[in-house]
Amino acid sequence: MSGRPLHNRSIEVIDLIYQETDGNLPIVGVGGIESKETAWNAITSGASLIQLYSALVFNGPSVASSIVKGLKKNTKENNFSSISEAIGYKHI
Ligand SMILES: Cc1cc2nc3c(=O)[nH]c(=O)nc-3n(C[C@H](O)[C@H](O)[C@H](O)COP(=O)(O)O)c2cc1C
Repeated sequence: MSGRPLHNRSIEVIDLIYQETDGNLPIVGVGGIESKETAWNAITSGASLIQLYSALVFNGPSVASSIVKGLKKNTKENNFSSISEAIGYKHI
């Protein structure tokens, strides 16, 4: 299985690992990352790196730059000085 059906479970696992390790372990968020929303979800859950595969197949390589643009926008809108401030933000 890959893509969208993995996303919610992936977020649950990122949340769990982030909480159990007090944010001290670098987490690669993967599973259904396909948009700025899904990427932001993984980062605010605790991922400091994100990976995607299926979205590249279904949406083409431009999905990466559109996610990066969206993440920059979210970073600004949330008044973070850098996206690193968003890592694990959901748990604060
Ligand atoms: C066709 C295909 C080939 C894959 N090959 C590998 C691989 O060689 N090594 C690996 O670690 N993960 C591999 N994966 C897993 C993906 O890197 C990724 O973890 C998984 O597809 C979930 O992310 P996604 O929802 O963005 O696709 C593969 C996935 C797919 C669909």
